Amino acid sequence: MQWHFSFLCIAGFFIKYGLTRLTPDFIHPCKVDDRACLIQSTIDAIPYFTKGIPELGIPTLDPFYVEIVAIPLAGLNISFFKSNIFGFRKAVIDNVESNFAKRKLVIELHSNVTSKGGYEATGRILTFPINGEGDAKITITNLKLKVMMNLDTMSDDKGVNHLFIKNYKNNIDFGGKVHYNLTNLFKNNPELSRAMLQLLNENWKLVAEEFGKPIVAYATELILRAIDKFFLAVPYEELFEGPLPF
Ligand SMILES: *[C@@H]1O[C@H](CO)[C@@H](O)[C@H](O)[C@H]1NC(C)=O
Ligand SMILES: *[C@@H]1O[C@H](CO)[C@@H](O)[C@H](O)[C@H]1NC(C)=O
Ligand SMILES: *[C@@H]1O[C@H](CO)[C@@H](O)[C@H](O)[C@H]1NC(C)=O
Repeated sequence: MQWHFSFLCIAGFFIKYGLTRLTPDFIHPCKVDDRACLIQSTIDAIPYFTKGIPELGIPTLDPFYVEIVAIPLAGLNISFFKSNIFGFRKAVIDNVESNFAKRKLVIELHSNVTSKGGYEATGRILTFPINGEGDAKITITNLKLKVMMNLDTMSDDKGVNHLFIKNYKNNIDFGGKVHYNLTNLFKNNPELSRAMLQLLNENWKLVAEEFGKPIVAYATELILRAIDKFFLAVPYEELFEGPLPF
C-alpha cells in the first residue's frame, strides 16, 4: 500500500517537476551534521510546506482542518468538531538537530496557535461539572513543541532511498497563556456557562495540562504524518548532501 502510494507521488512529481529533480524548490539540501543549515532549511520550508502539497497528498497545515477529535479522559468526554487550527505558518524554529549516527532528528519550535470550531463535552473539567455543546475558540500564546523523531531509511521499488519516521516523542509546553472561549458550557444556561468559562480561564494552565495536551499531541501526530509522506515521496539524496548515513 505504502509502496504504491509512494510510487504515485513520485510519478506526480515527475509530471510536475520534470525528470531530474523530484524535490520542490523550497528544499535546500544540508549535510546531516550542519545544524545551521538544517535550521535555515526548515525555516525556509515552513511557509511552503504549511500551504500543503496536493501532489503528495499533504494537506494545508495553516489553517489545519481537523474533522473530529474525541478525547476521552477520566471523568470527561470532550470532542472538537470541524476545527480550523491557525498559526503554524508563523512558527518560529528554535532548533533542529540531527544525530544520524543514532538515527535521531529533533525539531524545536514555538508558535501562537488558535483553534476554532465546535465542541461537545460531558463530565468534569478539574472539579467543575460540564454538559455543553457550542463554539470553541482556543488561543495558545507561545506554545512550545519539541519533537524527537527516530528515523530509519528504506529503499523503494526503484532503488531510491527514503527516510521515514519510525516513532517519535514530543514535549508540549504551554509557555505563554491559553485563552478559552467555549460557548454554552451548560446547555441553555448562559449565566452558569459564563461563570464556568471564567473559571476555566482563571485555571487555564491546569485545564491546558488536562485537555490541551491531548489536542496538541493529536495535531502533532497529523503534522508528522504529513512530514512522513514528504519523506516517502522525496529521495533522501535530495534532502541531504552526502551518502546515506545508515
Ligand atoms: C464517556 O463516554 C463513554 C462512551 O460513550 C461513556 O461510557 C462514559 O460514561 C462517558 N463518560 C463521561 C464522564 O461522560
Ligand atoms: C505571539 O503573540 C504574542 C502576543 O500577541 C507576540 O508578542 C509574539 O510575538 C507572538 N509570537 C509569534 C511566534 O508569533
Ligand atoms: C466568544 O465567542 C463568541 C462567539 O462564538 C463571541 O460572541 C464572544 O464575543 C467571544 N468572547 C470572547 C471573550 O472572545
